[in-house]
Amino acid sequence: MIKTISTTPYTDQKMGTAGLRRKSKVVMQPNYVENFMQSIFNVIGNLNGKTFVVGGDGRFYNDIAIQKIIKMSAANGVSHLIIGQNGFMSTPAGSNIILKNKADGGFILSASHNPGGPNADFGIKYSNHTGGQIPSSVSDAIYQQTTKISEYKICDIPDINLSQIGHQEICGMSIDIIDPVEDYVQMMEEIFDFASIKKLFQSGFTMRFDAMNAVTGPYAQRIFEEILGAPKGSVVNYKPLPDFGGLHPDPNMVYAKELVDFMFSDNAADFGAANDGDGDRNMILGKKFFVTPSDSLAILTDNYKYIPAYKDGIYGVAKSAATSTAVEKVAQAHNIGYYEVPTGWKYFVNLMDSKRITFCGEESFGTGSAHIREKDGIWAVLFWLNIIAATNKSVEDITTEFWQKYGRNYYVRFDFEGVDTTVADKLMENIENKLPSLKGYSQEGFTVSEAFPFVYNDPVDFSSTKNGLVVKFTDGSRIVYRLSGTGSSGATIRVYLERYSLSDIKQDPLKMLTEIFKIAMSISEIPERTGKHQADVVT
Ligand code: G1P
Ligand code: ZN
Repeated sequence: MIKTISTTPYTDQKMGTAGLRRKSKVVMQPNYVENFMQSIFNVIGNLNGKTFVVGGDGRFYNDIAIQKIIKMSAANGVSHLIIGQNGFMSTPAGSNIILKNKADGGFILSASHNPGGPNADFGIKYSNHTGGQIPSSVSDAIYQQTTKISEYKICDIPDINLSQIGHQEICGMSIDIIDPVEDYVQMMEEIFDFASIKKLFQSGFTMRFDAMNAVTGPYAQRIFEEILGAPKGSVVNYKPLPDFGGLHPDPNMVYAKELVDFMFSDNAADFGAANDGDGDRNMILGKKFFVTPSDSLAILTDNYKYIPAYKDGIYGVAKSAATSTAVEKVAQAHNIGYYEVPTGWKYFVNLMDSKRITFCGEESFGTGSAHIREKDGIWAVLFWLNIIAATNKSVEDITTEFWQKYGRNYYVRFDFEGVDTTVADKLMENIENKLPSLKGYSQEGFTVSEAFPFVYNDPVDFSSTKNGLVVKFTDGSRIVYRLSGTGSSGATIRVYLERYSLSDIKQDPLKMLTEIFKIAMSISEIPERTGKHQADVVT
């Protein structure tokens, strides 16, 4: 039943910030998934005795791609697959299943927060035994394979029924279909104080969780409604749909509009949250109040002692370079380790494995801890609920008290989307060439203190990664420029702006960043080079 099929390479199978992400129509081309998967298997080598975890966020093509992956795994000699029922599994749940079963890796079929459907995006994320996505050295080797692939192996059998939990054997490989929610719930129960969160809901506390018609619906209903007792209906858009019901499943102020409108209305719940397509991103809202992800990381870190799993102490904390420096002050105050890494969760993995950090986060609505090796949307929501239950304070009070203690890092990200890749590359090159001469440059009353490309030297594997260009000002304000690595077409220029104030904590972030925005535009020449005077998305 095992067939070897000849194929020809595709030239565009290089992974980005988080796996391979392409338009669905690109992925649907003949042998596209097959070439990519065979390249991974070729790089791993001997698959005999190996176990992998497979699942996805349920988006369009999840069901087709997963069958290909199962049949190819069997044909390539994989011994065992652990698969989420109906092919579903969130990214954080997948990381947990890899670690819990000491599996050799896993495949999550998702383009994360990108829209899904025949005219939208699909993706494949590959993790290794760490439970985290593979380092660049491995993805580079896989890319090399994709450029010379000439054949793939597949087991020629009918599609496998993924709806029944239990064990099966196909082509000499064993398969376990599992409930993708169960182990995840158990892990959350071990980390957080469920009893006190339950009491919070019993006292009449209200929440709205928007699953954005993506993978976290079943997780959220089980945890928030069934176990913790939030009123039925607290979880909305809970049914995972192949096109996310037309939603762009990115939990931010722009795309989670339904939730944002509700939380800024007079009927708002006490607490609001949303997750992205595959459940690793989170947005936190209070009544008429939004918590910037960079602040959320800092606030969670500052309040670690309220959480049973962390109360005895944490190792340290890390953030991506583009994330605001709010958490740096918390790390100093608690005298714990502090690290800055390139954008992408994979850069946190070595720091967690070597016990240098417990918490980590990115400005892009990602927060997590060493309980797994991916960011974790529901974990962040439970962390906030646990702090609220322990302190009896609102989201706004917790955040305001945090600013009173540490000052406020006003922070906004501006995305310029759909830019021609050549224009974008030239634009970045131009900024980089300017950096050495920027020191001392003054505009709008701000003076550049330092300007440099961000380079990360991993203390564990000694790899060196360059990602983003940083301009710092004498008052602590910062601009970071980088190109997105998760888009499926064209280039997105991301401009991250930050300004710190110790005592002026109640201003509008956009207003506080007006001057820095002007400076960022003149240094980068974005308006002149792209024709865009305003960003397409502001978060
Ligand atoms: C984006 C975010 C980054 C995150 C990644 C995957 O990558 O900026 O923080 O890790 O998605 O969720 P980018 O498109 O900027 O390369
Ligand atoms: Zn995601």
